[in-house]
Amino acid sequence: MTQITIRNLLQMKQKKEKIAMLTAYDYPTARIMDQSGLHILLIGDSLGMVVQGHSTTLPVTLDHMVYHTQMVSRAVERAMVVADMPFLTHNVSTEDALRAAGRIMQEGGAQGVKIEGGRELSTTVERLVGAGIPVMGHIGLTPQSVHALGGFHVQGRTEEAAIRLLEDALALQDAGAFAIVLEVVPAEVAQVVTEALSIPTIGIGAGPHCDGQVLVFHDMAGYTSGYIPKHNKAYAHLADILKEAGVKYV
Ligand code: KIV
Ligand code: NA
Repeated sequence: MTQITIRNLLQMKQKKEKIAMLTAYDYPTARIMDQSGLHILLIGDSLGMVVQGHSTTLPVTLDHMVYHTQMVSRAVERAMVVADMPFLTHNVSTEDALRAAGRIMQEGGAQGVKIEGGRELSTTVERLVGAGIPVMGHIGLTPQSVHALGGFHVQGRTEEAAIRLLEDALALQDAGAFAIVLEVVPAEVAQVVTEALSIPTIGIGAGPHCDGQVLVFHDMAGYTSGYIPKHNKAYAHLADILKEAGVKYV
C-alpha cells in the first residue's frame, strides 16, 4: 500500500472527498488507526495534555515530539504522518525552525510538520517548504498561545477577526503550506476560508464545511475521565471498557 501524500490530499479537496485526520502518540494506537483508514495521523503537542497530564501544551519539548513521532512512524503504512513543532521551536528564528523540523523529519520519520501561527510565519514556511519539508498551518485557537489569548476561547468571532483569519490563511497558502487546521472558529468563517483556499482546510470545532476534520484520539475514543471539548463526538467509550476490564481483572 502506498502512503498518502500532499498530492492525494489536494485531489481529495478537488473531488470534495473528506479528509479524516486524528492524533496518535504511540505504536499500537497508530497501527490500529492507520488500519482504520485515517488519511493523516498527527503527533500533536496535545500529547502534553492527554498523555503527559499537563494543563497546556507548553511543556512539550522537541525531544518529546521526536520520540513520539518515531513510535508512530514505525507503525504507519498508509496515512501521512505529520508532527507538531512544539512551543517556541518555529518562531524564534527561521534557522531554529529548519533545524527543529529537520529533526522531526529525519529522526522522527514524519512526512510533514504543523506549525501554529499566521502571516508572521510566511518566511519560515517558505524556507521549510524550500528545504523539502511539507508544512501544515494552524490558525484560530492556537493552544500554544493560550496565555496570550486569555484561555481556550472561540476565535474569529468579530468581522475584523474573521478577516484576519482569512488573510492569515491566504498568506500561509501563498508561502507554500499544503493544508491548514482551523481550530474553534465559527462555521461560517471556516466555510469562507475553505472556499477561498485551493489547499485543504482541516477543522476542529469549526463546523461541517471544512475539507477535513481532526480530533484528538483520546476525545474521539472516549479514552478520558476528565474534560471533553464541546465540539467533540466520542465514537467509543474506551475509558468505561478499560475500567470494567480492570475491575474484572482485580
Ligand atoms: O496538538 C493537537 O492535537 C493539534 C490538533 C488538535 C489540531 O494540534
Ligand atoms: Na497541537
